[in-house]
Amino acid sequence: MQVPVSQSFTSTDEGLTCDGVSVTSIVERVGTPVYVYSARAIREAYRAIDDAFASYPHAIHYALKANSTLGILRLLRAIGSRADANSGGEVQVAERAGFQLDEVVFTGVGKTWDELAYAIASGIGVINAESAGELDRIAQIAHARGREARVALRVNPDIDAGSHPNISTGLKVNQFGVPLQEAGAIYRERRGRAGLQFVGLHVHIGSQITTPAPLARAARTLVTLALELRDAGFQLEHLDLGGGLGIAYEDRPIAGPVEYAEAVVPELRRSGLPVLLEPGRAIVGHAGALIAHVVDTKRHPDGRQFAVLDAGMAELMRPALYGSYHRIVPVHPRAGAEAPWNVVGPICESSDVFARDRLLPPLEVHDLVALLDAGAYGSVMASNYNRHLLPPEVLVDQGQWTTIRRRQTLDDVLALES
Ligand code: LLP
Repeated sequence: MQVPVSQSFTSTDEGLTCDGVSVTSIVERVGTPVYVYSARAIREAYRAIDDAFASYPHAIHYALKANSTLGILRLLRAIGSRADANSGGEVQVAERAGFQLDEVVFTGVGKTWDELAYAIASGIGVINAESAGELDRIAQIAHARGREARVALRVNPDIDAGSHPNISTGLKVNQFGVPLQEAGAIYRERRGRAGLQFVGLHVHIGSQITTPAPLARAARTLVTLALELRDAGFQLEHLDLGGGLGIAYEDRPIAGPVEYAEAVVPELRRSGLPVLLEPGRAIVGHAGALIAHVVDTKRHPDGRQFAVLDAGMAELMRPALYGSYHRIVPVHPRAGAEAPWNVVGPICESSDVFARDRLLPPLEVHDLVALLDAGAYGSVMASNYNRHLLPPEVLVDQGQWTTIRRRQTLDDVLALES
């Protein structure tokens, strides 16, 4: 029997599979913990967004921060994606993955002088500027090199994205962008400034947004400002709506690409300007799972049951950092009644918990479990805490799998130390 458990994984009589490839067979070769991704799911998620916006001029700039392993970037580039880089490191990784720098938007609230200089000298597509001061630094750097930097000011519209406070970015209490009411003046004061070419406006109000209304409000706000700037004589080329589209981590339905496009395209039409989108999670989130072994089980006197995994907050930080929910499925579910389990990692912190009182079938030491929907902000946020080694990453494509990142070794880590 085959029962899909997510966009990428299926429960079968031979255990969990990813697009027909047995998870156990991957683990036998590369060990645990390991991230496993479905190339098909990534392509389908990309196309779902592309198709949803088919009626309107658009470009998808995949947000590297969600997962920037070269194998995944090359796959996305091959199907037409452009890139959104949030640091000098991501700009260079995009380049090494084969993106032309004029296909890259450079975002980020704290770009250093050197990062800006590199981006400008390499002819980056657009810099999404976060402040008046940053615009002035960009002008100075570009002018000194006899170049014109293409810039889009990031506006902070004071809109509540309705997601976790740690990943809501569009409120006036947040450090991102310039206050909406100041944006027009910032452009007007710098009109004709050597080194600057104002090509667009940018907004990004947060991540894991599950209803279209805040995204539509952000689009409306940006369009209104763009029309004001057009009246003032600015010839903008695009509006950048950022990323933020959420995915369903639990069984509850949420707004998807179609609802997103239906909500924002009517707003965008008032401007007629092409739109740039910077989705990260919605492209890779469902595609990946973190596979781990159960290394211990125990029952406290109050009846509480724990399953301790060989992966924890060092490998997947989202639950510890945001209390976020990832579905957990055994790779070979055991027969028996489901019972509440506390699934935890091996790190000596009480926040190293993946799930509390989660109903799961019986678990025993050596069992394999999959933490689903971990393709976005999983491997990229992993650390060496407790001297854990960064896990390998495996990409399954058309019945074959390849290791797109090998497991880190202790020698890799200690090579930096004297
Ligand atoms: N553009 C900008 C300017 C961003 O700051 C972000 C995400 C994105 C695009 C992509 O957003 P997405 O489509 O993936 O929602 N680590 C957190 C998420 C942090 C998001 C940061 N910015 C998590 O694990 O939920």
